[in-house]
Amino acid sequence: MHMFQYMLAAALSFALTAHAAGNPEAGQAKSTTCAACHGEDGNSKVPSFPRLAGQNRDYLVHALQAYQRGTRKNPIMAEQVKSLSNQDILDLAVYYAQQKGVYLKY
Ligand code: HEC
Repeated sequence: MHMFQYMLAAALSFALTAHAAGNPEAGQAKSTTCAACHGEDGNSKVPSFPRLAGQNRDYLVHALQAYQRGTRKNPIMAEQVKSLSNQDILDLAVYYAQQKGVYLKY
């Protein structure tokens, strides 16, 4: 393998490991401000606030990072993610992904 490919593989595996490190208990503790709109366990009762419960973890991470970067534009959420660290985002994403939410019956 070329050195560059090796370094890329190493960086990717590090990123994946870091991803796995979200802590749902910490996420729950950090979710109190989110609960006002998204519901206590992410099952929002108001259609204009999306349900987060049971949503894919990586989708949630991606959405929160996009609000932070401004690639997904929403003035309400832009304000909410301002002070979140990467660890906060991982913890929140893992917490909401583990809640029972909408699911499809096959
Ligand atoms: C004041 C109300 C409010 C609060 C508080 C709030 N949100 Fe949101 N959230 C919204 C609205 C409105 C949207 C839809 C925005 C859009 O269309 O992009 C949203 C969208 C999201 C999405 C994208 C959902 C999807 O299906 O794509 C995520 C993830 C999210 N919020 C997480 C959080 C987290 C985590 C917190 C707490 C740190 C939080 N929100 C706090 C109102 C709120």
